[in-house]
Amino acid sequence: MPRYSLSVNGLARPVDSPDPDQPLLYVLRNALGLHVAKFGCGLGQCGACTVLLDGRAVRSCQVPIGDVDGRAITTLEGLGTPEALHPLQAAFIAEQVPQCGYCTSGIIMTAAALLSEVARPTETEVRTALDGNLCRCGSHVRVVRAVLRAAETGAR
Ligand code: FES
Repeated sequence: MPRYSLSVNGLARPVDSPDPDQPLLYVLRNALGLHVAKFGCGLGQCGACTVLLDGRAVRSCQVPIGDVDGRAITTLEGLGTPEALHPLQAAFIAEQVPQCGYCTSGIIMTAAALLSEVARPTETEVRTALDGNLCRCGSHVRVVRAVLRAAETGAR
């Protein structure tokens, strides 16, 4: 069975998969036990499965495992720790963003990619970057406030 050498949250995580088209999301959740990235639509349309691939936000339900051999993946589990929250995580708590929370991981990872490129985005830039991340609870106003708050504290 082909083996893929993934770097996930800074750790080497070799994965065996019989199918090079298996979505990265399935590998993260089912093979590696990283459950924070969520399956929403499975079609690349909701953003719930967003992770960072070499620092760029990607929809992991649309990324085949065969394309990520040797590449660096970051999930929300690798962004901060309970003892040392990432500024985005602290800001999402401070702004009491999540309602059901299903979309939150994907939104934070998308925001992390934005802040790594644009340290102090405008509200319009935040809204544009998060345009493809859907939230059925309607938490978008608090999401934008939280991302702007994180930017003020210097999240990179
Ligand atoms: Fe991947 Fe919706 S589950 S974009």
